[in-house]
Amino acid sequence: MQISEFVQHFDKLFAARPRVFRAPGRVNLIGEHTDYNDGFVMPAAVGFSTYVAIAARPDRRLVIRSEEFPGNFEFDLDHLPPQRTGAWCDYVLGVATVLQQRGCELAGANLLAHGEVPIGAGLSSSAAIEVASALALLSLGKTQLPLPEIAKLCRQAENNFVGARVGIMDQFVSCMGKAGHAILLDCRSLEPKFVPLPADLRLVVCNTMVKHDLATGAYNTRRAECEEGVRYFTKLDPAIRALRDVSPELLDQHARDLPATIWKRCCHVVRENQRTTDAARALAVGDLGRMGELMRESHRSLRDLYEVSCRELDIMVEAAEGLPGFCGGRMTGGGFGGCTVNLVRQENAAEFAAQVTERYQRATGITPQVYICSAENGVRALS
Ligand code: GLA
Repeated sequence: MQISEFVQHFDKLFAARPRVFRAPGRVNLIGEHTDYNDGFVMPAAVGFSTYVAIAARPDRRLVIRSEEFPGNFEFDLDHLPPQRTGAWCDYVLGVATVLQQRGCELAGANLLAHGEVPIGAGLSSSAAIEVASALALLSLGKTQLPLPEIAKLCRQAENNFVGARVGIMDQFVSCMGKAGHAILLDCRSLEPKFVPLPADLRLVVCNTMVKHDLATGAYNTRRAECEEGVRYFTKLDPAIRALRDVSPELLDQHARDLPATIWKRCCHVVRENQRTTDAARALAVGDLGRMGELMRESHRSLRDLYEVSCRELDIMVEAAEGLPGFCGGRMTGGGFGGCTVNLVRQENAAEFAAQVTERYQRATGITPQVYICSAENGVRALS
């Protein structure tokens, strides 16, 4: 997008010159459904971004508009709605609400959003708009907050205001992403380790173009199942606070005592944590063979144990096998549709994209979108 055009559009709407902030979407390389279990994830920020332009107003109103979505939303900062309105502006409102609750004094503002992160594809368009809005709103006030804290507040907005019980991964990587690197994030301590990706590697993201209705309900069910697992293990050892604290050995010892479904869910999480730290080590030494194997295992586990894949995702993962330059791939994000992520050598990436498209199309009759991405930086002020 041309920033100058975006700024001009803002000027036309609000007769002011705005500051512009850009926050990226993300793709998760490995560590799925582990963030809300205090575990490990390894996402990277990608080149799709949401842009938020903002300028102060003399009154206490917050006006929110988008280039893609209709509506001219106007609120009084001193009487923000106590709960979601059901419109897209909830992401901005939620952030404004948590910032105020945190004690940040916000100024009246006109705000315009422009999103390029594909929506509903599991690439975190919601985290991107939250994070860009947070920086924009804070830029007009006196409070400065560290980026990890902004990530936490944005997650809080999504949990408490928008009403999605997501983990911290998406907001964190949208804040802290680093070009050329994935982030191995310990979701308990929030300590990041930046893992360099080989320069000639591309993250090829394949959008199945489906999103099954199940997604939100099933996400919350999975969370509840994990909590049930934790309750069981806490009785055995009060030091266990999350599935993060359950070792593979302990899990195996109790395989027969847990209800079968709960055991499968726990099994996925406990081993996925292990895979994720192993994957960071493999990447650090450039062992792409091992990394690819771990990604494949992750997919199988999400499909068979956590049961959040779907036919289209499985076909897309299958479609990548055997193509030149392909190191490994899996579904990415919450599941039930959305995208797969594939590690592919740069020189083969374009051909890979063409072949996967053809294979997927042949099997499903759906034309996918394929994006050749690299790891990018997190949120930035552009002007
Ligand atoms: C969604 C959530 C994340 C994470 C993933 C699954 O993307 O927003 O917090 O839980 O699902 O790994």
